[in-house]
Amino acid sequence: MTSKFSRIGFILAAAGSAVGLGNIWKFPYVTGEYGGGAFVLIYLLAIAFIGISVFLAESVIGKISESNAVTAFEELAPKNKGLWKYAGFMVLSGLIILSFYSVVLGWIVNYIFISINSLPTDVKTAETTFTTLITQDIQTQIIFHTLIALSVVLIVLQGIKKGIEKANIILMPLLAIILALLLFYSFSLDGFSKAISFMFVPDWSKIDEHALLAALGQAFFTLSIGVGTILTYSSALPKNANFVKSSVLVAIVDTSIALIAGIIIFSFLFEAGAQSSGGPGLVFISLPLIFADWGMVGQVIAILFFIALAFAGITSAVSMIEPILMYFIERLKFSRVKATITCGLIFYIGGIIALLSMSTSYGEDLTFFGKNMFDWMDFITSSITLPLGGILCAIFVGYVMKKDTLEAHFLKFTTKGVFNAWYFLVKYVVPLSISILMLNKLGLLG
Ligand code: PHE
Repeated sequence: MTSKFSRIGFILAAAGSAVGLGNIWKFPYVTGEYGGGAFVLIYLLAIAFIGISVFLAESVIGKISESNAVTAFEELAPKNKGLWKYAGFMVLSGLIILSFYSVVLGWIVNYIFISINSLPTDVKTAETTFTTLITQDIQTQIIFHTLIALSVVLIVLQGIKKGIEKANIILMPLLAIILALLLFYSFSLDGFSKAISFMFVPDWSKIDEHALLAALGQAFFTLSIGVGTILTYSSALPKNANFVKSSVLVAIVDTSIALIAGIIIFSFLFEAGAQSSGGPGLVFISLPLIFADWGMVGQVIAILFFIALAFAGITSAVSMIEPILMYFIERLKFSRVKATITCGLIFYIGGIIALLSMSTSYGEDLTFFGKNMFDWMDFITSSITLPLGGILCAIFVGYVMKKDTLEAHFLKFTTKGVFNAWYFLVKYVVPLSISILMLNKLGLLG
């Protein structure tokens, strides 16, 4: 590992990775689709019992090994090293996620400009603005995707401390300030109390096995687990840093921000009498309309909102590519520059494929088995490789690594009770619940 985080740098970077489009764009619309309160409750349980356990598993593997994911599994496995190293290839997921994530980030930057110029004032225009962008305006999407790709590459080129830590130290507080302003504004709206009851009073009628899986997938995606991100960041922790406390803190920050983003967005929506079930277009179609309705104040809020979203997304994007960079640098002896350019090119091309697959001109050629490439990238990662990465980490610490080693590591920072609870969760609860949900989703269970 070339450079190390400072303790606060690690917490900010891990929180920066966790807090992203998953919290501000995805969480509200998935919550809206599954009817609110009950879904939120399941999501919170998934974070508390599965998410934090996997987070800690990844973190302890990274911290003990102090190396990239592939070397970590290889070194820490007492036997079958040659096989276990393949678990480390979960880092490939980062490049797949980054391909479509960069495209969505590009839409967001485009919406910063739309907010500055002129917001759509009626439903029809709001819808066509968004659908034209994603189905016809290939050029604009490529320009903004390129801009995002370059920013990500420039940040990671500087390395852990000067690039990633620095970007997070600047962007994360700004994000917090913008969200706080938006939250205060939403207090003053009548929609606020409706938002609170929508999000915290459970309505069980929309909850089925799809909702359970969506909650689990969301928990993984939002905490950045199953990709090797937390493993890689933890490998750059200073020796005496309390990884248990930091992990729990990051999960709390991430969850709070998702809830706050939900409260803000639903307050806005209910204030305007809009529907909560707007799907992925919620932030791009429903919100701009509401902002437009509020005149000047709305325009300022719109600009702040999309800037916050862009900041949150950039700090997550850099964390998706760092794990595979570390693999290239440590194992294949690439320089950071060469590794960054190689991986940058891969996700850049991946992003172009993703955006073309949604266009009317090329969509058909890039659609396989009824799903376009953009949706495939999302599906393969959220529903398959992330949960799989999570299970592998849980099995590795629960069954492969020596319990004594783990225990000694945990007891430096926490009590035996906490260790035992975590060990039970990673050994039994995590593998069982994830396998049942995954097999179910893939249609392999009845
Ligand atoms: N957690 C990020 C978000 O919520 C996404 C992410 C996934 C980041 C996997 C890194 C690794 O947007």
